[in-house]
Amino acid sequence: MAARKLLALSAGLAAAAAAPPKLVLHVIVDDLGYGDVPWHGANAEHVAPNMNALAMGGVRLERMMVASTCTPSRSSFLSGRLPVHVQTTLNNPEQPNAGVPRNMTSIAHKLKAAGWATHVVGKWDLGMATPDHTPYGRGFDSSLIYYEHKVDYWTQVLFQSACQAYDDGDIVDLWQHNASSRPAGGIVGGPARGWNGTQYIEFTFRDRVLDIISRIDPASNASTFVYWTPHVAHCPLQVPDSYLARFNYPDDEALCQAQTPYIFPGSAGSDYRCRSQYAAMVYLLDEEIGNVTAALKAKGLWADTLMVLHSDNGGPVVLAESGASNWPLRGGKYSDFEGGVRVAGFMAGGYVPPALRGTTQEGMVHVADWLATYCGLAGLNASFCTADALAAASGLPPIDSLDQWPLLSGANTTSPRTELPLGPNGFISGQWKLLLGQQGSAGWQGPTFPNASSGANPPDDMELKCGTAGCLFNVADDPTEQSDVAAQHPDVVAALKARLAQLAAGFFTNNDTGTNVPECASRPNKQQPCACYLALPGNKWDGFFGPYQV
Ligand SMILES: *[C@@H]1O[C@H](CO)[C@@H](O)[C@H](O)[C@H]1NC(C)=O
Ligand SMILES: *[C@@H]1O[C@H](CO)[C@@H](O)[C@H](O)[C@H]1NC(C)=O
Ligand SMILES: *[C@@H]1O[C@H](CO)[C@@H](O)[C@H](O)[C@H]1NC(C)=O
Ligand SMILES: *[C@@H]1O[C@H](CO)[C@@H](O)[C@H](O)[C@H]1NC(C)=O
Ligand SMILES: *[C@@H]1O[C@H](CO)[C@@H](O)[C@H](O)[C@H]1NC(C)=O
Ligand SMILES: *[C@@H]1O[C@H](CO)[C@@H](O)[C@H](O)[C@H]1NC(C)=O
Ligand SMILES: *[C@@H]1O[C@H](CO)[C@@H](O)[C@H](O)[C@H]1NC(C)=O
Ligand SMILES: *[C@@H]1O[C@H](CO)[C@@H](O)[C@H](O)[C@H]1NC(C)=O
Ligand SMILES: *[C@@H]1O[C@H](CO)[C@@H](O)[C@H](O)[C@H]1NC(C)=O
Repeated sequence: MAARKLLALSAGLAAAAAAPPKLVLHVIVDDLGYGDVPWHGANAEHVAPNMNALAMGGVRLERMMVASTCTPSRSSFLSGRLPVHVQTTLNNPEQPNAGVPRNMTSIAHKLKAAGWATHVVGKWDLGMATPDHTPYGRGFDSSLIYYEHKVDYWTQVLFQSACQAYDDGDIVDLWQHNASSRPAGGIVGGPARGWNGTQYIEFTFRDRVLDIISRIDPASNASTFVYWTPHVAHCPLQVPDSYLARFNYPDDEALCQAQTPYIFPGSAGSDYRCRSQYAAMVYLLDEEIGNVTAALKAKGLWADTLMVLHSDNGGPVVLAESGASNWPLRGGKYSDFEGGVRVAGFMAGGYVPPALRGTTQEGMVHVADWLATYCGLAGLNASFCTADALAAASGLPPIDSLDQWPLLSGANTTSPRTELPLGPNGFISGQWKLLLGQQGSAGWQGPTFPNASSGANPPDDMELKCGTAGCLFNVADDPTEQSDVAAQHPDVVAALKARLAQLAAGFFTNNDTGTNVPECASRPNKQQPCACYLALPGNKWDGFFGPYQV
């Protein structure tokens, strides 16, 4: 490392490009709306002072691209594949093809090769069928996670899986492992007993992140990777009373349900105010980000930290689910409009080159790109970073990740990512976006959304029929997708359609499946997923969700 640093300095390169950061803190916030951060929000009610200071003093990533839903985006981050090459469904983890196929190398595996320490805290959402699917199997030294798309913030019980049909609402989704306690040859990790039901889940995760930071030895040469994936601001819109009390908007939407029977223990369970609940959750997370950055500064680590934060997908704008806003972008979660796939994000910390602080980055960066970017920062070469021999031997798609550090560090002003297939009906190429078929969630929100006149399902009330002819938007000049210019540019439409058809031939469906563990052979109801059976009180995981195949 010393030699590399000297070489780089003598070649006149920025010192920051020479040595890896001591800490990469990568935060993927759940369901954070593009308009729900102060630097995009229209008015003073979007209160997130810590994130705002980091974004305004760092580099705002203004073309940070993701999938329109959580599991595909997270699978893309972990595997370095575009979503169409790893996972495009929202299958629950009790299905063996949820998340990332076992034989794909992960971002943590790559960083381990450079000697980094690796930790994950928060939402996993990347599959759990076998131990190889769990954080341990993916190369993380430690984890404290839940497996599902969402849990109850207060009790951590399952909220979405098919297991709800078989349990009494008492299966807990919380799992952990520590490298230090790895039993020889045994399954690494287990139910996080003792953690569930103790406090609001976000405080548990924050405390774990603070604990990891407290154990980093700044004198060691090894770097640390912390992947922190808060549950906020995903539904259920649950939040402590003391936070909600700050956001009691009088003009708030009353028709929403926020997908919860109660907001906080003891709350009435009928007085849903989605914009207030949502804003309170973002504020709570913002405070935690303040806690974590304060700890890094107190330890002297901030100067050597690269922190990246972005949402996993656009904010959900269906009021039966959430109260997010992507204003001024069009659409939201589940849609291929910019409101679904272009998210709020920034890069901060002392590792950000000083000349770039306070700027915006307009180049296209995809969530798949962090793997090659961090792998390159760790000092590993590009051919190693993008190689995946096991995946190749298993017939799985190769790594798509592109090293964005030249762009992000200002060494090169052009993004290496020029095109992005979103799925069979969406394709971005340069400034153009092609949409085909019937596109739902086609509405815009507003500077104050949701509001008393929003109705129950506002943006979904609008559909755009693009059909086989196709709609075309110039998302560079018209990022809010006001004007369909397909009629003016038939040549562009034709070229994009042809290229999308070519790419679609390589789209991947995850069919990964293993063999149920022997305990499942004796389950009375064979329709019941093995995962649910093992989780029932008295069975293998005794009240917790965990792996169920080999
Ligand atoms: C850490 O790096 C320094 C400077 O490059 C080197 O002298 C030292 O031996 C390294 N320590 C370890 C434990 O590798
Ligand atoms: C795992 O690590 C956590 C966080 O440091 C710690 O609280 C816990 O006691 C450890 N568990 C084991 C079994 O080592
Ligand atoms: C934690 O989960 C277990 C298993 O479901 C349950 O028995 C226990 O009551 C829960 N603890 C709390 C504090 O909710
Ligand atoms: C987090 O920050 C808030 C606001 O500054 C503060 O009240 C709280 O004590 C902090 N908590 C921790 C664990 O640092
Ligand atoms: C890249 O790194 C790998 C693994 O460290 C090494 O085997 C390979 O020779 C390197 N290739 C180049 C071109 O430096
Ligand atoms: C994954 O790789 C292992 C070899 O490590 C191989 O036995 C297995 O068949 C592969 N799985 C798939 C689904 O390709
Ligand atoms: C800058 O990046 C672009 C996109 O990856 C690449 O085509 C170009 O060669 C790079 N320029 C230099 C000077 O490295
Ligand atoms: C209220 O919500 C509707 C969409 O439901 C939106 O059109 C309108 O602009 C919003 N009002 C304000 C003041 O933002
Ligand atoms: C996965 O299954 C689908 C549908 O059954 C099939 O079309 C596809 O070829 C399979 N993919 C792989 C990689 O086996």
